[in-house]
Amino acid sequence: MSEFRGIEFEGLRALVTGGASGIGLATARLLAERGAEVAVLDLAVDAVEKPLRGFPADLRDDASVRAAVEAAVAALGGLDILVNNAGVGAAGTVEDNDDPQWHQVFDVNVVGLVRVTRAALPHLRRSAHAAVVNTCSAAAVVGLPQRALYSASKGAVLSLTLAMAADHVREGIRVNCVNPGTVDTPWVGRLLDAADDPAAERAALNARQPHGRLVSADEVAAAIAYLASPASGSTTGTALAVDGGMARLRLRPAQG
Ligand SMILES: NC(=O)c1ccc[n+]([C@@H]2O[C@H](COP(=O)([O-])OP(=O)(O)OC[C@H]3O[C@@H](n4cnc5c(N)ncnc54)[C@H](O)[C@@H]3O)[C@@H](O)[C@H]2O)c1
Repeated sequence: MSEFRGIEFEGLRALVTGGASGIGLATARLLAERGAEVAVLDLAVDAVEKPLRGFPADLRDDASVRAAVEAAVAALGGLDILVNNAGVGAAGTVEDNDDPQWHQVFDVNVVGLVRVTRAALPHLRRSAHAAVVNTCSAAAVVGLPQRALYSASKGAVLSLTLAMAADHVREGIRVNCVNPGTVDTPWVGRLLDAADDPAAERAALNARQPHGRLVSADEVAAAIAYLASPASGSTTGTALAVDGGMARLRLRPAQG
């Protein structure tokens, strides 16, 4: 019988940033379904349903992050799993975003991740199954048009994932990331709403992924859960693509 049969996350405590929406919410729900105690950190947590516990914080503010992490860890009775998922997007070429926009996106996507991890590490060190999973992006590893700032921030998340994995492997803390393609979340819904022709934009996003559709938030959550699970205890410093083949496959055009 497999040593991982049964409820995989029983007795483990997880904190998910950006857990009030999209990929983070799907991840928080899945970890809770599989037996974890789960806290969600987000700007607004009023809509977070039980058994998830919500802790409001702004990743741009170190004091607010520290207070929320401490409150979440106290409520959970410790911390085994950190999912650094909260993030913001940006559109444009390298000419299109001004300095404040560059600082704002890096402040959330990169320094925000650092702030949460810094506050969580003392607690993770006390866990026998410590895992950090970062939500990176296919944009970190393929050149996408009109995503200069966003891609640069996710490139930093990929590099940080590797550096943190090296720094903490001997402390028993694994660090990995997922690289989703385009995922059907409220974020992408907002992008489609803003497009001149939302149906054509959706069709173009579907076609960009070799499997011909958007990735679901549940599919990304399942990949995050795998990397967070004791079942992946020998996996650290990796990026798991959840992108329908977008980053690695080269198909011939479909025949009409
Ligand atoms: N949707 C996609 O196509 C896609 C693809 C690849 C990677 N990602 C990444 O997945 C992650 C989640 O994206 P999503 O699509 O679920 O988006 P979403 O907008 O549905 O959820 C993001 C959550 O992060 C929270 N957040 C944003 N700024 C914050 C801050 N300063 N402090 C605290 N919380 C904050 C938001 O309130 C929101 O609940 C992001 O890191 C994003 O870059 C998304």
